[in-house]
Amino acid sequence: MALNNNRTKGALLGASILALAGLGSLPALAADAQEIIRDRCLACHTESGDADNPSFSRISDLRKTPEGWQMTLNRMQHLRDLEISTEEKRTVIKYLSDHQGLAPEESAPFRYLLEQDTNRVEVGIDENVMQMCARCHSAARIGLQRRTEDEWQTLVDFHMAQFPGIELHAGSRDRPWYHLAHDETAVKLAEMYPLVTPEWNDWKKADKASLMGRWRVLGYIPAKGEFSAWMTAAKTGEDRYSLELEGNYADGAVIEGKGNATVFTGYEWRGTITIDSVKMRQVMAADKNGQMMDGRMFLAAEDEIGGELRAVKDTGDAQVVAVMPTYLKAGESAELVIVGQNLDGDIDLGDGVSVDKIIARSKDRIVVAATAAGDTGVNTVKVGSADSDVALNVYEQVARVDVTPVNAISRIGGNGGEMEKIRATYRAIGYSAGADGEPGTEDDVRLGYMPASWSIEPADEIAEHDKDHLYAGEITPAGMFIPGDAGPNPERKMSANNVGRLNVVATVDDGGNAVEGRGSMLVSVPDFVERVLD
Ligand code: HEC
Ligand code: HEC
Repeated sequence: MALNNNRTKGALLGASILALAGLGSLPALAADAQEIIRDRCLACHTESGDADNPSFSRISDLRKTPEGWQMTLNRMQHLRDLEISTEEKRTVIKYLSDHQGLAPEESAPFRYLLEQDTNRVEVGIDENVMQMCARCHSAARIGLQRRTEDEWQTLVDFHMAQFPGIELHAGSRDRPWYHLAHDETAVKLAEMYPLVTPEWNDWKKADKASLMGRWRVLGYIPAKGEFSAWMTAAKTGEDRYSLELEGNYADGAVIEGKGNATVFTGYEWRGTITIDSVKMRQVMAADKNGQMMDGRMFLAAEDEIGGELRAVKDTGDAQVVAVMPTYLKAGESAELVIVGQNLDGDIDLGDGVSVDKIIARSKDRIVVAATAAGDTGVNTVKVGSADSDVALNVYEQVARVDVTPVNAISRIGGNGGEMEKIRATYRAIGYSAGADGEPGTEDDVRLGYMPASWSIEPADEIAEHDKDHLYAGEITPAGMFIPGDAGPNPERKMSANNVGRLNVVATVDDGGNAVEGRGSMLVSVPDFVERVLD
């Protein structure tokens, strides 16, 4: 009943506001944006084409993500003295993202950059792009743009003019960097990432699903843990929503939040939500039917600190969305939380797993005590006739533990200096060995995130000699790495600062058997350049 009430309320509210906003809102936005471009940009850029379908030099032959457009406009302000109000800038970014954005397939390989999940080593990058370009910034920055050949080449010219030292760096002074970049890399990029693609043509034409409604969200907040909640998105304008979030952490504690979101390019969800008085950002991509969104939520003030976020639309159908935890050890009992929508009927956790007791039950959250007999395997969690592809991994032994992120950077800070410390958060993922019994092979079964105890150790002999593990930082029981203070440290040899190279060690207790996993942590100096430009 509560469920129906909520949905009606959401729909009504949305409809009335839509009617108001509907007074020419879409065309107005486009017309507004074009007028702003004419007013603000044409001192330096030029316009051609007819008034209804204008072309702006250096602007119209590109496609970028919302963040990509924002980055360029930031540069226009910082380096070119563009004058523009925040409101106008928002309108231009929204317009350019909607009309010259990336299709879902095009942004898919590089979403980590949009999600600000940058503690990672990029893999599978073209060797030439790696050497010529991605030694300064991510390859994702490039992979998230589409341009004509001319525009890729002009981008190289911009680099050369803006950063003349570019030819003197290691990795370019051994070669004619500019000529290679202009005549070869840019030409290749025009083939890899051309302006006109079938994906974008299709997406431009596609009907975009409304993202208004009630969403079942699942996420993880560092130091607080996993949560499941309802998030209601009520329409407040064209592609604008107000958000209300209410639910529970895995231990039952309440999570609540309020905020708002804008959808760019028909699928790029960008939300800001205040949870327990902490401002957080949501970056998600909606699927084509507008029924599922995936991405990440992180602290607005510290984007390194965040976790995965998934939202599943309440369509009124019965659906199992998740089980927490995602694993159960054979021969043991544990409490499991099943999360979903409109859940009715018998609970079936698959062969060999018995439901001993239903501890709590509502239509969207069921807590059970379950026992796994001897059989191992990947079971499907079923409740009545609800849709489900949610897996419960029944395993015998944790054979391997991975630490995520595998490679991370933190930065010393604080201690009276200008820059705050940049922290990092870790999680442990358990695997069983799979059919071949060998851990570390392809058929390992990912069991899921597991609780772990955390410690640090020097990364190698030099780090050990310099006692990096005593100075460079510490890790909390929840897996939060906090780097050391900035500035010289009289206790260290030659009063060195507190940088260091460490391993972060997760120890998972698998029924009395300790299984360790390691990640590497580079504790570095403050990022003066980036933070000053912000
Ligand atoms: C005061 C001059 C000036 C103004 C005003 C200005 N720009 Fe630019 N713009 C430049 C220059 C110079 C470049 C080439 C160098 C560069 O890319 O930074 C450029 C390049 C660009 C590019 C190409 C960047 C790329 O991705 O390679 C875009 C897009 C752009 N401007 C958008 C805008 C928009 C939109 C506005 C107005 C809201 C604007 N500019 C206002 C001077 C200006
Ligand atoms: C010397 C370091 C360096 C190298 C090498 C380098 N870049 Fe960049 N690149 C930068 C910096 C710094 C910026 C940010 C400029 C700004 O917006 O202030 C940037 C920005 C960009 C942007 C975003 C521009 C925009 O407005 O959207 C793209 C795309 C890009 N680079 C592509 C490339 C490509 C392609 C190559 C190789 C041919 C390359 N970069 C090589 C330093 C580098």
